[in-house]
Amino acid sequence: MRAYDIILKKRNGMELSAEDINQLIIGYMSGSVPDYQMAAFVMTVFFQGMSARETSDLTMAIVASGDRVDLSGITGNKVDKHSTGGVGDKTTLVLGPLAAAAGVPVAKMSGRGLGHTGGTIDKLESIPGFNTSLEREIFIQNVNRIGISIGGQTGNLAPADKKLYALRDVTATVDSIPLIASSVMSKKIAAGADAILLDVKIGDGAFMKNISNAVDLAKAMVEIGTHVGKKTIALITDMEQPLGQTVGNALEVREAVQCLMGEGPSDLKELCLVLGSHMVYLGGQARSIDEARSRVERIINNGKAIDKFRELVVNQGGDPSFIDDLSLLPQAAEKHQLTAVEDGYISELKAEQIGIAAMTLGAGRETKDSQIDLSVGIELYKKRGDRVLRGETLAILHVNDAEKANVTKDKVQQAFVITKEPPVARKLVWGQVTAQGVELY
Ligand code: URA
Repeated sequence: MRAYDIILKKRNGMELSAEDINQLIIGYMSGSVPDYQMAAFVMTVFFQGMSARETSDLTMAIVASGDRVDLSGITGNKVDKHSTGGVGDKTTLVLGPLAAAAGVPVAKMSGRGLGHTGGTIDKLESIPGFNTSLEREIFIQNVNRIGISIGGQTGNLAPADKKLYALRDVTATVDSIPLIASSVMSKKIAAGADAILLDVKIGDGAFMKNISNAVDLAKAMVEIGTHVGKKTIALITDMEQPLGQTVGNALEVREAVQCLMGEGPSDLKELCLVLGSHMVYLGGQARSIDEARSRVERIINNGKAIDKFRELVVNQGGDPSFIDDLSLLPQAAEKHQLTAVEDGYISELKAEQIGIAAMTLGAGRETKDSQIDLSVGIELYKKRGDRVLRGETLAILHVNDAEKANVTKDKVQQAFVITKEPPVARKLVWGQVTAQGVELY
């Protein structure tokens, strides 16, 4: 069938066959289907949606566009974890060592940040000497030797997703459930883990703004994972405000280290315990989530989690002295304090606006070729629901460029909405989706 006919079929609300979808993706990668036809196709999918079968076929067509990592050389149940994107989300830095210390092999390929959301690889590069470009064999040897390796994506994994994502980004078609589900799951399936834990974000800083869309996305992804024989669990977690108290690469590494030592902000700690227990359960190192939770709490309290992080840093060429002296991480030249202009409660702390402000300071990339500054970012002294008095510190901007600081200050100030009454509390974890069904808390 011609690309035109496939687009027309979808536009008219009919279901595409696996062959239609494969043909379109193969044609797009070979160049016979140009960007303008693919743009029309993704816009049609945005409006018409896709059935679970079509979404699964699209995922597998994207997987087939590139290589699949063979992790069979690593013994044990490899568990991958993926977040649909957030502001201040440094959980991978905590969860990797935590799960590895509990006996779950962690072979983690991570990405760089783009736009208002950060990436684990950028954060790890704040650590002096830390090498994120590892040959595949070294990556696998590391996991077999110390239980964990974290590197940038190597090889040609899901190249159709790269091309499609860039197209979606400029055609207002990113926030489509079948397109997000196939994009995320194609990369997870290509990366070769045995089980997948998905952290589906909901709220201001996330693609999914409400619970019903978040559940639909989680269901679509769990269905794909289950269909290809990978045990998959999705947790739906809050991203109405940034996670923890820091946004910015080195600042987030500092907070992750504190969390691995049992310190740090309570929302970050709790989310890491919840996600960590699910990883340990999926990795077969506990018979229930409750048993896994006791295990990960113990591993943080007895120092094994931070010891595993130290081992990871040393093993990948990093200087671990910053763990005992966090001031050795990259530091910005100036700090600008923002204070409350009235008494009240923080009723909103807009995640996306904080993410964009941090990007403007240099912590993130506006385009994929932008240079980032590892030392800059935002420290949040007040979070949603906190009581605040006029003159109290709301945030501290860590800056290297006075011009950028000036542009950003007002945006950060406006991200804090202060009201006389406290806001209705929001859940940190909204529910979970497994092959057995949906459970909302
Ligand atoms: N993250 C992805 O990897 N893909 C999407 O489409 C959206 C978020």
